[in-house]
Amino acid sequence: MGTAFEGTRVIVTGAAGGVGRAVVRGLLSEGARVCATDITPSVASLATGYSASEIVTIEADVTKAADVERIYALAGESFGGVDGLVSNAGYIISKPAHDTSEEEWDSVLTANAKSFFLMAKRALPEMLARGSGSIVATGSISSVLGLPAQAAYCASKGALLQLVRQMAIDYAGHGIRINAVGPGSIDTPFLQRYLDGLADPAAGMAEIKAAHPMGRWAQPEEVADAILFLLGGKASFITGQMLMVDGGYSAR
Ligand SMILES: NC(=O)c1ccc[n+]([C@@H]2O[C@H](COP(=O)([O-])OP(=O)(O)OC[C@H]3O[C@@H](n4cnc5c(N)ncnc54)[C@H](O)[C@@H]3O)[C@@H](O)[C@H]2O)c1
Repeated sequence: MGTAFEGTRVIVTGAAGGVGRAVVRGLLSEGARVCATDITPSVASLATGYSASEIVTIEADVTKAADVERIYALAGESFGGVDGLVSNAGYIISKPAHDTSEEEWDSVLTANAKSFFLMAKRALPEMLARGSGSIVATGSISSVLGLPAQAAYCASKGALLQLVRQMAIDYAGHGIRINAVGPGSIDTPFLQRYLDGLADPAAGMAEIKAAHPMGRWAQPEEVADAILFLLGGKASFITGQMLMVDGGYSAR
């Protein structure tokens, strides 16, 4: 157990997923007070073994402003406010543009870009009033590279990165840092669902690993460690950046 986040109040979205769970575990082990949220009811299981002063959980859809309001209301009631936000919820529909329906486009852009906008927007007034705060979003190699059959996903993660950069400029003078991580493939249910959708999952797995110069994909904890670094005081002069956590993928 460390103390790097002792008393720091952090909201984590997508907390029931692979990366989200690792972020929540990492924050709790460093003394943070966590409001963990996900659209999936299993988010409640994160609180097992902890007290309500350490972690509260809430089922909510971060694409809806009313649900975002409920998340911040819970964090306010439980901890008196929010010092940090990890905006990590997201999902992929893997299709080229000509096969992507209007509904699929809207759902991916909303889940990955609008959710970050809504979550950050709601955190900022309190952070501005206090003159401090830190926000980290989960982007992707798809934020900076055009990847096959990821029309809506690349557009959504590119939008997320541009919002990180834009907001970092607006709030840098107010003690608020805003950054992102850019993971390559990560061993989570998200990746498993993607592989399951391929005609030949075994070939897809080998292809994905080979595309990363390190010859493997990430464990969720490796991405969570980068998120915690950017969120915390060790990154005190870093804002508007995306830290690639991709085993060298984007260095080619
Ligand atoms: N797994 C990968 O290979 C990979 C690679 C690059 C980036 N990412 C990104 O990492 C982040 C975490 O993904 P993961 O790999 O842990 O996947 P995951 O599917 O295990 O977790 C994502 C979580 O987000 C939640 N979520 C989705 N839409 C939501 C909504 N509208 N409201 C609330 N919660 C919602 C899901 O229920 C899920 O628990 C995502 O933003 C994803 O785009 C994943």
